[in-house]
Parts: sequence; structure tokens; C-alpha cells
Amino acid sequence: MAITHWLSLIFAGIGCDAKLAYEFHVTRQEKPEKFSSQFVNKLRYAKEGARDIMDRACADLPWQVWLEVDGKDVQIPKDTEGLIVLNIGSYMGGVDLWQNDYEHDDDFTLQSMQDKMLEIVCVRGAWHLGKIQVGLSQARRLAQGNVIRIHASSSFPVQIDGEPFIHQPGCLEIKHDSQVFMLRRTLEEPRGHAVAIMTEVLADAECKGIINTSQRKILLQQLALNLS
Ligand SMILES: *[C@@H]1O[C@H](CO)[C@@H](O)[C@H](O)[C@H]1NC(C)=O
Repeated sequence: MAITHWLSLIFAGIGCDAKLAYEFHVTRQEKPEKFSSQFVNKLRYAKEGARDIMDRACADLPWQVWLEVDGKDVQIPKDTEGLIVLNIGSYMGGVDLWQNDYEHDDDFTLQSMQDKMLEIVCVRGAWHLGKIQVGLSQARRLAQGNVIRIHASSSFPVQIDGEPFIHQPGCLEIKHDSQVFMLRRTLEEPRGHAVAIMTEVLADAECKGIINTSQRKILLQQLALNLS
């Protein structure tokens, strides 16, 4: 099944950033009075961040997600817990995630709304994201390109333009198409179900001491590679 969305601008996150947004969104719908001001939102964000470090829900992201930019594989650093795709200069209260104003020793170009390119940065988790927001740290620049494909072998929280949802195993494609960016989600239900079972079996095996954490991660990575 393929779902196509049309977007006027892109800001998409997968992983810890999206997980926070998702929890936020759910709480906001339940208790709108709790989110009366942006200031309160920021406080909540910090608190949710702390919780995220504890449960490390997205720590397996580099083993379960495979990033493809313009047909080329892009290595996701092993400490990544969130990927953010952007084509706008600011994010969350004016933080310049692509760091246009800094000197860099990579070959990426300045971010521009006109070039039909998308930029991808990664963050190491909610705590890192919090530090980025207050200017104490920077996101890591990962890639730049026209067609971004994110293959996931398990379910992940994703947010697109502030709308969070749970992305089922499959491929998320973001590209520029004449005027607007287009997003396509391909859901592979039967395969996703099999992966969910495998993931659980591996987690159980680790719990029982049959395999260790690094073995589980290697197996998950193999699974992701074979399914993509
Ligand atoms: C996990 O087990 C493998 C195989 O026995 C071993 O090589 C590796 O060092 C172990 N890793 C950890 C973190 O214990």
C-alpha cells in the first residue's frame, strides 16, 4: 500500500524527536488545557526528554533504519537516536539545525528553500536535542539530496510538519516534485508483522541470556538489510 501526501514544506523527524512529539500530541489531545503556552510546552519537553533517556526507546534506530539519499546508502552513526529531514532554515524556536552560519569541513552546501534539496541531520537522543535547542550543542550533518528514502524494519514514531504518527515497517520517501515536496509511505504489513515477531524473539533471547546485546543488534541489522 502506498500513501502519498503533498506538503508545502518539509520538516520530518524519525526517532526520539518524533517520539516526544507523538507523546506530546496524544497528551495535548487528551488535556488541551495543559498546553496553554509555549513556555509550558518547553518545560514538558525537557521532562519528557529525561524520561526518554531512561527508556532509550530509540537506541536501536541505527540497526533498524536504513537511510538512502539519491540512491546511495548513508551510514547512520551508531549513537543516533533521531533523524531529522529539513528544508527550512529553522526548527523549534529558530534553532538552525543545518548550521548555515558556521564553518564546516564537509562538502555540503548552504541550505536554501530554492534548491529543491533536502538536508538530513541526526541527533543522539532527547538530551542532545535539548542541548541543541539551548545552543549548547549541534546536530550532526549527515546528508543532502533530492530523494530521501528511510527504510525501517520496525515501527517508529515519525513526525511530519508537526503531525506525529507511528510509521509501520516499510519505506518513507521524501522528494521534491515540481512545486512541492512529496512524501510517500509504503507499508508492508505482512513483512512488518514478521519483523515484529523476530524483534520480540531476539529481545526475549537477550533477556534469557541466550544472546548478548551486541549479538541482538547485529541480528537486527542483518534482518533490516535482508528486508530492504
Ligand atoms: C557477545 O558475545 C560475543 C560472542 O560470544 C562476544 O564476542 C562479544 O564480545 C560479546 N559482547 C559483549 C558486549 O559481551
